[in-house]
Amino acid sequence: MKFPDQFIWGAGTSSYQVEGASRAGGKGPSIWDTFCERPGVISDGQSGEIACDQFHRLEQDVAAMAEIGLESYRFSIAWPRILPEGTGNVNPSGLEYYDRLVDHLLENGIEPYVTLYHWDLPHALQLKGGWMNADAPRWFESYTRQVIEHLSDRVSQWSTFNEPSCFLGLGYLEGIHAPGIKVSRAEFLTAVKHVLLAHGRAVQTIREHAKTSPNIGYCPISHSAIPATESEADIAAAREFTFGTPEPARGHWFSNIFTDPVLLGVWPEEAAAAFCPDPPRVTQSELELMYQPIDHLALNLYTAAIVREGENGAIEHVPGVPGEPLTTMGWTIRPEGIYWAIRLHHERYGLPIIIGENGVALSEWIAEDGCVHDAQRIDFIARYLRQVGRAVEEGFPVLGYYYWSLLDNFEWAEGYTRRFGLIHVDFDTQFRTIKDSGYWYRKVIHSNGAALSAPTTAAVLMQPNEIPQ
Ligand code: FCB
Repeated sequence: MKFPDQFIWGAGTSSYQVEGASRAGGKGPSIWDTFCERPGVISDGQSGEIACDQFHRLEQDVAAMAEIGLESYRFSIAWPRILPEGTGNVNPSGLEYYDRLVDHLLENGIEPYVTLYHWDLPHALQLKGGWMNADAPRWFESYTRQVIEHLSDRVSQWSTFNEPSCFLGLGYLEGIHAPGIKVSRAEFLTAVKHVLLAHGRAVQTIREHAKTSPNIGYCPISHSAIPATESEADIAAAREFTFGTPEPARGHWFSNIFTDPVLLGVWPEEAAAAFCPDPPRVTQSELELMYQPIDHLALNLYTAAIVREGENGAIEHVPGVPGEPLTTMGWTIRPEGIYWAIRLHHERYGLPIIIGENGVALSEWIAEDGCVHDAQRIDFIARYLRQVGRAVEEGFPVLGYYYWSLLDNFEWAEGYTRRFGLIHVDFDTQFRTIKDSGYWYRKVIHSNGAALSAPTTAAVLMQPNEIPQ
């Protein structure tokens, strides 16, 4: 299996999920800090107040990244750490924290990939309506300016938003993520519009003020489908499922509203009207602002639907087989989904692709020998990466892959009950243990993917100290 020489092997996290120190160093509260205080909203009653305590342990975590051989670390900036009130006064110690993180990464030969927004809006801005407020794009622009002024001399890889369909869908429609409100579908689309405008303003700000040539991306979740067969008809059904007019039963889990305006300069009227009878109006000049040239599309992909063309030409879902394996998130394991997501998105939008997130939560623990033998994670990553490799071999421009996540962390409404990491975290002691998958990923990185050709069972039997140096 051959990957391009420049292929980036990375892993990711986000600020609220790993930093902790949620009230330290002058940071203001985010909507996740306040949301977690509500009884019953987080399955284990926990919060990100301490999380992985990366704020105080970044040296140790960067050392672990170096041990794994990561070439890049995707992390997000906590907006309320930089601007505790969301706008106005800058918190110097917040900026210093990211300085130290970036410097440490660079000293270890690890490229920082910075996401500007991974869900932790300053609480002060939520009091003004959050993404429902028409001023939100301006707030985001000012915040972006601070970050760019400060970090762009050393950071060149950027992405604006992580998964708007999740933070708006789960946070504003379903109310199960912060800020935990339930607005109408039309109001939800208004919030979407504001986020897309904020994206446009941020891209302009980065281009105008970056001190080193920026590579700018956008990171939606991919709601992709796998065609049941590779017939033209089934591929067309998968394309339609991924980008077409959403079926009402899918709720907000569809793509085109989040991607077409940003990547094609088109507001999908039909999809918006199918979603709600009175969608907000989007003007031509608003669309122009949303549609800024960007350099890559970062896709997050965990699972996918399987579809085919039905009898009357309609999309038909292929049901999973009984007993189909599920991760502890309850998600199906569909490696081909990543190939189809790359292919369909590249065909539609023409941009180079980065896999921004892909990973698996498992039930696992530290064995008596002190290791975490997560054979299923190795198997999962290998299967998905081989599909990435297929896309690469067919000529699709895939620039890199970020495993989610570097560390076990605070999995939003699921608290600490879901473990995604290459590194196990004991949340009582903060003790870190690199899992078998972390050592196996090191082999994949060292061989630039060639190790994927070997059966993963061999990797499972290998002890960490047998890894070639
Ligand atoms: C994605 C989120 C990320 C993490 C993974 C499991 O939707 O971006 O923060 O929670 O899912």
